[in-house]
Amino acid sequence: MTASVHTAQAGTPATAGPSAQTAFRAQLLTFHGDPAHAPHGAVYHEDGLLIVEDGRVVAADAYAALAARLAPGTRIEDRRDKLIVPGFIDTHIHYPQTDMIASPAPGLLPWLDTYTFPTERRFGESAHARETASFFVDELLACGTTTALVYCTVHKESAEALFAESDARNLRMIAGKVLMDRNCPEFLRDTAQSGYDDSAELIKRWHNRGRQMYALTPRFAPTSTEAQLEACGALARAHPDIFIQSHVAENTDEVKWVADLFPGHRSYLDVYDRYDLLRRRAVYGHCIYLDDEDRKRMAQTGAVASHCPTSNLFLGSGLFDFDKADSAGMPIALATDVGGGTSFSMLQTMNEAHKVARLGGHHLTATRMFYLATAGAAEALDLGDKVGTLRSGAEADFVVLDPQATPLLARRTARRESLEELLFAFALLGDDRAVYETYAAGQCVHRRDDARKHVAGTRVERAARVLAD
Ligand code: GUN
Ligand code: ZN
Repeated sequence: MTASVHTAQAGTPATAGPSAQTAFRAQLLTFHGDPAHAPHGAVYHEDGLLIVEDGRVVAADAYAALAARLAPGTRIEDRRDKLIVPGFIDTHIHYPQTDMIASPAPGLLPWLDTYTFPTERRFGESAHARETASFFVDELLACGTTTALVYCTVHKESAEALFAESDARNLRMIAGKVLMDRNCPEFLRDTAQSGYDDSAELIKRWHNRGRQMYALTPRFAPTSTEAQLEACGALARAHPDIFIQSHVAENTDEVKWVADLFPGHRSYLDVYDRYDLLRRRAVYGHCIYLDDEDRKRMAQTGAVASHCPTSNLFLGSGLFDFDKADSAGMPIALATDVGGGTSFSMLQTMNEAHKVARLGGHHLTATRMFYLATAGAAEALDLGDKVGTLRSGAEADFVVLDPQATPLLARRTARRESLEELLFAFALLGDDRAVYETYAAGQCVHRRDDARKHVAGTRVERAARVLAD
């Protein structure tokens, strides 16, 4: 079945004009709680209706329950052969690393020196930052990711470019300028004072402007002096509602390095704790080499563990202990960590998350992974009333997934016997091809088949130019 449009007729007076609402008839999945703990956490409608107006969800329920409530003249988009889920949330990604994705190295520290730092150098050039930000956002939307926590580079211009791109498309994004005042090349270094001043200026300019939000971004403890971490803590205290993002306990060499650089701290995580950087809306990438005390501290403070499986496997960093993190009550979310991560797709991220959990003896269901990539992430980020959900009043960010995206996916999903099997097929076999459409604030911001035509058109034009030359 292809997508089609109808108009609500029942009870329509002869004079009724078009409604300001749009409705989507589709299979619907949203969450009212963590399916691992709440038996009815996942809410699924085989024949559902999602009503949207002014960028927000008006209602989402069974078609039979809502059809009569549709305002006369409402357009009904027919997506009955598709599944609508809330937009995906990627809780850790580096936009300047887009061009160096898939660059192999024998571990995190050589990877940073060989590829990452040289690639990040050019982001002081606004034109380069803007062009990369635009491609990056296209790629997120093609994968169904509508909110991300984004690392920029040390340059103020890099954050400016990302925010401007996101704001122009009315996306809810969280980003920050990286803070680094030691142990990196001179050309990427700020100072405790300049990093503080630049971050303060960006917070003033972008935090809560439209849908943009700011994240203080000390890269990781080894690249910040104590003075910089102190300044960071002061800014965080001055702005209790901004985000904080960093890396922790990703790689064994890194952990040893932190122990040398910060003697007298109980652990790597304790360094951040000492500077008041553990709290709600503080998000730490990786969290592989934490101990029980660290996990307890994460749970007590509400700091979030951002699990980045494709990156951890690619860089050989280690295996996130899902079971221990979960048992400790730490908030957990999923992330790509591009360019250490190897895919922009949260579906591919689920695929690898499942396998990493499997190696730890834990069965991570697809239903839970969809929760972690949507409502679970939003709750962990204290954004549960805004994104990650199809609840009425929420911002209308959602993804239309296509179970027939590939012959294999079509064949497998035709034989599914449960919602879990459908979601598992999407997670294991899906990627950007499975994302039929992406909506942000009720507007379509990506349509797979149009994007393909555009790419094909560009290729044809390019080929014609090459032949003409
Ligand atoms: N630790 C410090 N910087 C980085 C980075 O850019 N990527 C990853 N994966 N880990 C880091
Ligand atoms: Zn990272």
